[in-house]
Amino acid sequence: MRIILYTGKGGVGKTTVSAATAVRCAELGKKTVVMSTDPAHSLADSLDCKIGAKPKKISDNLTAEEINVNEELKKNWGRIQKYVTKFLKSRGFEDLVAEEFAVFPGMEELFSLLKLREYFENESYDVAIIDCAPTANTVRMLSMPDVIRWYMDRFFDIERRIVRTVRPIAERIVKVPLPTDDVYSSVEELFHKVEGMKEILTNPKNSSIRLVFNPEKMVIKESQRAYSYLNLFGFTVDAVIANRIYPAEIADSYFERWRAVQAKYLAEAKTIFDPLPMFMGKLFDREMVGLKLLHAFADNVFGDTDPSQVFYKEPPIKTKQTNERYMMSIHLPGTEKKDLNIWVLGEELIVEVSNYRRNILLPRSLAQTQIVEAKFEGDSLNITFGK
Ligand SMILES: Nc1ncnc2c1ncn2[C@@H]1O[C@H](COP(=O)(O)OP(=O)(O)OP(=O)(O)O)[C@@H](O)[C@H]1O
Ligand SMILES: [Mg+2]
Repeated sequence: MRIILYTGKGGVGKTTVSAATAVRCAELGKKTVVMSTDPAHSLADSLDCKIGAKPKKISDNLTAEEINVNEELKKNWGRIQKYVTKFLKSRGFEDLVAEEFAVFPGMEELFSLLKLREYFENESYDVAIIDCAPTANTVRMLSMPDVIRWYMDRFFDIERRIVRTVRPIAERIVKVPLPTDDVYSSVEELFHKVEGMKEILTNPKNSSIRLVFNPEKMVIKESQRAYSYLNLFGFTVDAVIANRIYPAEIADSYFERWRAVQAKYLAEAKTIFDPLPMFMGKLFDREMVGLKLLHAFADNVFGDTDPSQVFYKEPPIKTKQTNERYMMSIHLPGTEKKDLNIWVLGEELIVEVSNYRRNILLPRSLAQTQIVEAKFEGDSLNITFGK
């Protein structure tokens, strides 16, 4: 199953591009599902029909669903949430606050993506198109599996063992409810699911992310940052879509200026996202909703190109090993030295880009290794390890 996630700044046209891509894939005879993980769903408005949390058939090959983020959360996190809530309440938090704190930001959307794993394993569809929330939320959602893994690797087993041993006495003394073993089993089960999903989503052969933007300064800057963060977490962006481009037929001095501004930013975007293909969507003279207009939008953006293709396959993180040296290259376009921090801790390389941190597990052979050199070459951060 081919998986394509669309993200971008608020309002740039993510939902429209997602729906149009899905309409086109279905027209090409591919069994397609389009779903949105953005809690502020607008897929129904875009397709101009009612959609719910259950898959809804829209046309011959097209199914749509608006995932109920809360329901997915309950399904996957319910038991754990109950425990954390109980724990927080025992520490004096009020009911509602405790319940809210028992969910980490990004988690709801992350769980809604677990559906993808089911679809992938059951080969339910040829193509799955995901209309994601705006960039910051999407990056947070996609970095969650790493955060979970970090906790699992370090603390999970130890904590479970300690709790098993000390529960009978500890609960009486500290008066804090300790997690029962089925809470741990739930965490473990969930962790495996999330890991499996991450594996699918970071495999450039079947999954890609696409950034939708408008040719404007702030939007491009945000897309560029998102591009870097996604690369840091190992997700491959395979194309970008510039939307709302003023078409040549607007012959008017007022828009002439705007066209010049857009041309400048489109040229900039080409450099930033090179070598990714950049598709263009013109600004239509009406809201692009309903199957007919989405078809016209897909024509304008993709022409004869099949949008389900994988347009770019290079993984953003590459490694190379020679006899004594191990090299890692991370594609981080637009990242400046001042926003970057890297160090090795035990068997991990820790990379911080602005507010995001990733712990990358190094091969065992590199234990007690050090960073010999780290420098930017072009848009890539090249790190050399040695003893
Ligand atoms: N190229 C275009 N021409 C004309 N109208 C467009 C175009 N692209 C998007 N629109 C319209 O702009 C509105 C916003 O688009 P859309 O909902 O796709 O943006 P979004 O990025 O998903 O927004 P949000 O961040 O709120 O989810 C919709 O009414 C859509 O029909
Ligand atoms: Mg939207």
